[in-house]
Amino acid sequence: MLKLEMLTKRYNTGDLALKEVSLTVPDGQVLALIGPSGAGKSTLIRCINRLVEPTSGSVNLNNVDLPKLSSGALRKARRKMGMIFQEYALVERLTVMENVLSGRLGYVGFWRSYFRKFPSSDVKEAYRLLDRVGLLEMADKRADELSGGQRQRVGICRALIQNPDLLLVDEPTASLDPKTSRQIMRLINELCEEQGLTAIINIHDVLLAQMFSQRIVGLALGEVVYDGDPDGLTPDVLTQIYGEEDWSATIEKADDAYEDELENE
Ligand SMILES: Nc1ncnc2c1ncn2[C@@H]1O[C@H](COP(=O)(O)OP(=O)(O)OP(=O)(O)O)[C@@H](O)[C@H]1O
Ligand SMILES: [Mg+2]
Repeated sequence: MLKLEMLTKRYNTGDLALKEVSLTVPDGQVLALIGPSGAGKSTLIRCINRLVEPTSGSVNLNNVDLPKLSSGALRKARRKMGMIFQEYALVERLTVMENVLSGRLGYVGFWRSYFRKFPSSDVKEAYRLLDRVGLLEMADKRADELSGGQRQRVGICRALIQNPDLLLVDEPTASLDPKTSRQIMRLINELCEEQGLTAIINIHDVLLAQMFSQRIVGLALGEVVYDGDPDGLTPDVLTQIYGEEDWSATIEKADDAYEDELENE
């Protein structure tokens, strides 16, 4: 279980990015975090894996209090948190397989990884994951030869090979076309279900958030203004999160997309 209590972040610039955010995410839940640009979504994710130091409050993952950890213990705890990024963050000149295996770096010693000597169990698991996401034949291609959707699949494999308890996902589809975005969100969702993973997914697309999460948290100006079912995102709630706009068309589109999705299954 992931538990955030009174999490606050004020950057050195004085920006108050998170204001006393409290959230409990049960194991296996896929949570979509939505909100306008600057709401604090990325800050929240980064405070969890301590890419950003919280100003105050606590972050507790499976009874380990993350902000209190020393650097060695933090490294260990980070293994349990897989990250997936908008820009994929792949090493361009390395192969798909090497990029996936780099997810094991937190486990494999420096010299072993320097000489790219990964245990055969890691290589086997990498092949299994690549097969699962439909990239088996691409294993030996260089990362810079892939399309955006394929890159993101590699990013997903790299996060999963860490064997994480928690997936932290920041705008996974922001660089992808609508169809690929849907496929990627569906894949992340299915993998979480298959492996019982908890996930927090920052996403701008309200429709995708509704289709592929079990819970939605809406942030505005660093505060939680909505926390509930995907179905509960009424035009009023969207106005609260994003400000004045006519949201009724978005809601209708969500209903249609959801029906399409059911027909696909
Ligand atoms: N490194 C930083 N230094 C100073 N201020 C920052 C830093 N990163 C973010 N902020 C500020 O914190 C607030 C929240 O930013 P954050 O990046 O978390 O928002 P976001 O919801 O992820 O936005 P977006 O949807 O555009 O990615 C903003 O006011 C931003 O300017
Ligand atoms: Mg962001």
